[in-house]
Amino acid sequence: MNDTKTTHQDRRAPLEISAEEIRRLGYRVVDIIADELADPARRGVYPPPQSPERMAQQFGGPPPEDGMDGDAILDLIRDELLPASPNYCHPRLMSYVSSSALALPGLIEGLVASLRLYPYTWTLTPGSTEIETTVARWLGQMLGFGDNAAGYMATGGTGANLMALVAARVAKAGWYVREDGIAHHEPLVAYGSTQTHACLDQAFRLMGLGSRGLRRLEVDEDFRVRVDVMDNAIAEDKAAGRRPFCIIANAGTTNTGAVDDLSALADLAARHDLWFHVDGAYGAVAALSPAARPLFKGLERADSMAVDPHKWLNVPYEAGCVLVRSWDVLSRAFTLVPEYLRMADGHDAHDHWHHGWELTRGDRALKVWVAIKQIGFAGLTAMVDEHLAMTKRLAHMVEDSDDLELMVKPSLSVCCFRFVPPDLRSDTPDNGYLDRLNEETERVIQQAGDGLITGTDLNGRRCFRPCFVNHRLTQDGIDHMIALLRRTAREADARLRSR
Ligand SMILES: Cc1ncc(COP(=O)(O)O)c(C=O)c1O
Repeated sequence: MNDTKTTHQDRRAPLEISAEEIRRLGYRVVDIIADELADPARRGVYPPPQSPERMAQQFGGPPPEDGMDGDAILDLIRDELLPASPNYCHPRLMSYVSSSALALPGLIEGLVASLRLYPYTWTLTPGSTEIETTVARWLGQMLGFGDNAAGYMATGGTGANLMALVAARVAKAGWYVREDGIAHHEPLVAYGSTQTHACLDQAFRLMGLGSRGLRRLEVDEDFRVRVDVMDNAIAEDKAAGRRPFCIIANAGTTNTGAVDDLSALADLAARHDLWFHVDGAYGAVAALSPAARPLFKGLERADSMAVDPHKWLNVPYEAGCVLVRSWDVLSRAFTLVPEYLRMADGHDAHDHWHHGWELTRGDRALKVWVAIKQIGFAGLTAMVDEHLAMTKRLAHMVEDSDDLELMVKPSLSVCCFRFVPPDLRSDTPDNGYLDRLNEETERVIQQAGDGLITGTDLNGRRCFRPCFVNHRLTQDGIDHMIALLRRTAREADARLRSR
């Protein structure tokens, strides 16, 4: 049989395709994107339920022996992958801290990947290096951290917070942590609140400090950390021979958008000689708004902060950023130069690979730079102002209604409330009925896919927590979701009571 004589060489698909073919396939990719964005509500947020067998049939199996035609691959992506993916372009997406991706920064990602743009050394990649440097400086200026911030683009808030904590430990441990590690030294501890994002626990685990090394302290009725409690905790740890090294403040908690008292925490950090880190992954972008800016007083005194352009700035994933006061902070924590990377022409302070723990990474800053260039400071501020106004309107509407209950006055763009049937609006114990009712409502709404609102637990009570950061969100969309929520809750109430 002829086949037996066919070698791998004969059967290989070409590694290179012609410029014409690149154009044709590229336009097809753009068409898929444009078709989705032309009518972003055409698919629900949640994909229809899929069986593991079907997913395995479409995307699994052994590695293919022969290459597949580019058009067939694009068909598979359009016809099978997209319907099995959430629609995060949806105009009624108001879940978690979920935004849509701006179109041009999204398209730029294809260019970054195809042409391998990346920040490395100044000599080799001066453009990408300057862009990352500029994005850090712009974010620092725009959010009131400072005019000359240094920074590094991480994958997201988890990475940015981890990097800040690693830098804080190097700066404040009091011994050579990078070389000597942490064994045989006093336990290092840091301070946040019960509302601090779980990624900080992750950071403590990864740093070998254990999640107990992060002291999660009590909050007040507005979910802001109690500074007096933190002061006492620091004193107790010192007295017990532990080594406090960092205070972690929230500039917009995930649960409620609470902003800690940054000035008071900056004072506390200064008094105890601790690093002062601010997690603004979600909320710091609110500082663009003149109305919200006073909440962030004290941010200008932070040693480091995390901010996520892939959240409220609507930049495509992955884009988190850690900001610090000088490049030295990062290079002292991360630089590592093996002989095979030593450059003949020496090193420049702006060689970006000194400033993080990764060596090769794509240009994550370009999409942020494009978003800020294209929309501008004024356009981004207007978007944030609009989201803050929408949140206030929703909170007022909830307060005025007889079947919704506000859990806490919103600080930023999260509004926590729950459905309470009018006959249950009293302080009498409900044996968890309202939790069950709100959770059931949430489940049904999510499955309906007609937009997305998610929930949380506040003081042990289940509630909804719409979060407005999506640039496609409209007031009509919010009204639609609240009407849907009420309708669904009333039906769930009738169902649960009839059991
Ligand atoms: C306050 C805060 N910090 C950190 C994170 C983690 O960010 P990422 O999901 O980008 O890693 C989040 C995510 O929602 C957050 O809201």
